[in-house]
Amino acid sequence: MAFRRGLATLLLVSFLFGFLSSFEEGDLSLNYYSESCPRAEDIVKEEVAKLYHKHGNTAVSWVRNLFHDCMVKSCDASLLLKTTNSIISEQTSQRSFGMRNFKYITTIKDALERECPKTVSCADIVALSAREGVLWLGGPYIPMKTGRRDSKESHVDMVENSIPNHNESISLVLSRFQSVGIDTEGTVALLGAHSVGRVHCVNLVGRLYPTIDPTIDPACGEYLRGRCPTPNPDPNEVSYSRNDRETPMVIDNMYYQNLLKNRGLLLVDQQLTSDPTTSPFVELMAANNSYFHERFASALLLLSENNPLTIDQGEIRKDCRFVNAD
Ligand code: HEM
Ligand SMILES: *[C@@H]1O[C@H](CO)[C@@H](O)[C@H](O)[C@H]1NC(C)=O
Ligand SMILES: *[C@@H]1O[C@H](CO)[C@@H](O)[C@H](O)[C@H]1NC(C)=O
Repeated sequence: MAFRRGLATLLLVSFLFGFLSSFEEGDLSLNYYSESCPRAEDIVKEEVAKLYHKHGNTAVSWVRNLFHDCMVKSCDASLLLKTTNSIISEQTSQRSFGMRNFKYITTIKDALERECPKTVSCADIVALSAREGVLWLGGPYIPMKTGRRDSKESHVDMVENSIPNHNESISLVLSRFQSVGIDTEGTVALLGAHSVGRVHCVNLVGRLYPTIDPTIDPACGEYLRGRCPTPNPDPNEVSYSRNDRETPMVIDNMYYQNLLKNRGLLLVDQQLTSDPTTSPFVELMAANNSYFHERFASALLLLSENNPLTIDQGEIRKDCRFVNAD
């Protein structure tokens, strides 16, 4: 009898434990919308494809968006909120400089709202569009989960302490990524996203004037000075250089090969080869594109699952630019 009561208690306790822990991790799942909006992931895929064919650089933006949304507290689409009476947009932070194509998030969201009103979160649009963008840029398929919910606030005051600056030290960069569970190798892999897109002169002139940083390959330094002819570019100035002149629209290991030739654009890029904790990974990835893609995929997956809002937290925004009125 006592034995059976003990067993019953044990079963009850383990049931409760399982129940509670399923709440804790039952947050994100693969194909979360399979019942509530079965075409959700297809719709994102179709819209991202259409946008890519109109403006190829939208794909680049979707990748950067994931970093800037997920790194700042949570993958909660706080990045997408515009400035209103009660909100200061994260997009106004100096760290968001150069971010573009936010208006096309509305295109994706509108297509989802037509099919399933108020069902698919903007935070999941950030994740799924990045997944599709990476594919259009020749990168790996990343099996991202869904079920994130949208924040009701901006975290503008946290942006500068979460997203490193272009000239930050390696140790600070590594500790920022460590704080979201991404190790040294994962950090080296993620920066491989800088194999696509562009850098504006405001982020380059520190390495070009008054003298060219002696660690830059001299021919590359001259080229960059040609792109950025003045030491004090107007912040509204549109001059920029492409990250990777050989394969500018492909997420590939050319980034690491360029670093080994001292052709990294940002200080944070080039430091990956000069620092002994990161340089072995640069060499591995420069030598093997498949290896880079594997490490990139698993690090981006980790980033995409950083501290999401789930179940009854936050809301499902109707318009990704504003919190719901009700
Ligand atoms: C230490 C970490 C990082 C720093 C300091 C950093 C900094 C920057 C800077 C300064 C730019 C150029 C902005 C401009 O001048 O227009 C840039 C562009 C970009 N970053 Fe990062 N970044 C970091 C990590 C990442 C990560 C982890 C990703 C994605 C996985 C990413 C994706 C991109 C992309 C795709 C662009 C090109 C954007 C475009 O052409 O529109 N970055 N980043
Ligand atoms: C980094 O660059 C910014 C300008 O973008 C500059 O104000 C700052 O002093 C630089 N920091 C370091 C540590 O060099
Ligand atoms: C490159 O990396 C892939 C993926 O990790 C691995 O299977 C392959 O053996 C590596 N190739 C070489 C030549 O090391």
